[in-house]
Amino acid sequence: MKVHGSLRVPGDKSISHRSLILSAIADGESRIEGILQSADVHSTAGVLRALGAQIPELASRMTVSGAGIRGLSQPTAALDCGNSGTTTRLMAGVVAGLPLDATFVGDSSLSRRPMRRVARPLEAMGAKVELPEHGGLPMTIHGGQLHSLNWSSEHASAQVKSAILLAALVAGVHAEVLEPVMTRDHTERMLAARGVRLIIDGQRVAIEPVSRVDAANVVVPGDPSSAAFFAGLAAIADDGSLRMENVCVNETRRGFFYQLRLAGVDVREENRRMEGGEPVADLVVSPRELHGTVVEGSRVPSMVDELPLLACIATRANGETLITGAGELRVKESDRITAVVDNLRAIGAEAEELPDGMRIRGSERPLEGRVHTHGDHRLAMAFGILAAAQGNSIAIDDRDCVAVSYPNFWADLERVVV
Ligand code: S3P
Repeated sequence: MKVHGSLRVPGDKSISHRSLILSAIADGESRIEGILQSADVHSTAGVLRALGAQIPELASRMTVSGAGIRGLSQPTAALDCGNSGTTTRLMAGVVAGLPLDATFVGDSSLSRRPMRRVARPLEAMGAKVELPEHGGLPMTIHGGQLHSLNWSSEHASAQVKSAILLAALVAGVHAEVLEPVMTRDHTERMLAARGVRLIIDGQRVAIEPVSRVDAANVVVPGDPSSAAFFAGLAAIADDGSLRMENVCVNETRRGFFYQLRLAGVDVREENRRMEGGEPVADLVVSPRELHGTVVEGSRVPSMVDELPLLACIATRANGETLITGAGELRVKESDRITAVVDNLRAIGAEAEELPDGMRIRGSERPLEGRVHTHGDHRLAMAFGILAAAQGNSIAIDDRDCVAVSYPNFWADLERVVV
C-alpha cells in the first residue's frame, strides 16, 4: 500500500467543545472558525441550547452571542450528552456552579462511564449530585452557591480538571487542582485568552474568582487525535508520504507522534506557528522499518486516545510493544484494553491483556477477520488503518460510529491510499 498527498483533518474535538461552552457564557459575541462538526460537538451544542444559550447551527465560521457568566437557565428536560464524556463532565461543572437542577443522560456506552470522579469534587464545592449505584448516568446535579476547593485528583483527566475549573469560574470562587500527570491544557489556554487569571505550576492549576468572561475569536486547529490515524497509516505503508496540514501540536497532545519516532518512523514538523493560542504545524510522515517500543505511564495522557491505534500499528513492527500505566483505557467509550486485545487476536495478531495495558508482538503475517467496534469510533478508525495495509483482509462491524469525531474519515482514507 502506498500513501500520497496531503489532507486537513477536522477541527480538534476538545477545543471545539470548549469553544462553544466558553462562548456561551461570555459577555458579547465570539467568532469560532473551524469547529469540528461531529456528533460529540453537536451534543455540547444541544446541551447548551437546552440551558438557554443561543448556539447557531455548527458551521465552519460561526458567531455565538454569549449569555454572560451566570446567564444559562433552568432546562425543562434531561440534558442529552449522546456518546460524549467531555460534554457530560465539562457541563456538569458549569451546571454545578449555577442555581440549576439538571439531569444528564446519554447513550448506553456513556451511561456506563464513571461520573464519581466529577461528582466528588463538585460535591466538595457544595453542589448536590445524585448518581445511580454503578456511578454512571443518569446523573442529576443540583447546583448553587459553591465554595472554594483545593483538589488533588487521583485520575489524570482533563475532563475532571476542566469540570472543577468551570464550576469555580461560573460560581466566582477560587479553585486549585493538582493532577498526577499533566493533561491537555486547552481549558486553561482558552480561559487565559478570555481574561481569566490562572496560576499554573507544573501539574497544579489555580483559578482566581472573576465576574465575567470576555468574548474572543477562536480558531480551532486540526485534531492531533484524528491526524494520528493518517500518521499511523503512513507509518505502516510500503511507500510514499503523507502531509497533514494545520495540526495542533500542543505538548499535552503529541505523545503519539513522539512514540512513532521512537518506533523509527520519519515524522517531520514543518511550518510550526502559534494560532489561536495553540502551537500548530504541518506533519509529514513517511514509512520506515518499525520497531517495538515501550509506552510509560507518564506519557499516557499525551496519547490516551491514540493507544488503540498504537496497538494496531504495533502488529506490523519488529518485536514487542508494551503499554502500561493505561488503566484509564478501560473507562473510555469502550473498555479499550479488552476490546483492542480481543479484536487483535480475532484477526490473527499476537496480543496480551494486562491489568493496565497490553503487550503486542509484531509480525509480517497478513491479518484477517472481523472487528467488533462496540460502537467506539476510535476502534473503528484504528482497525480501519490496519485494514488498509497490504495483504490484510479486515471487516469492521460498525463503520458509521466514526461520526462521533471524524465524519469524513472513510472518504479521507480512500483519497490518500493508492
Ligand atoms: C478529553 C479528555 C480525555 C480524552 C477525551 C477528551 C477532553 O478524557 O480521552 O477524548 O476534551 O478533556 P479524560 O479526561 O477522561 O482523560
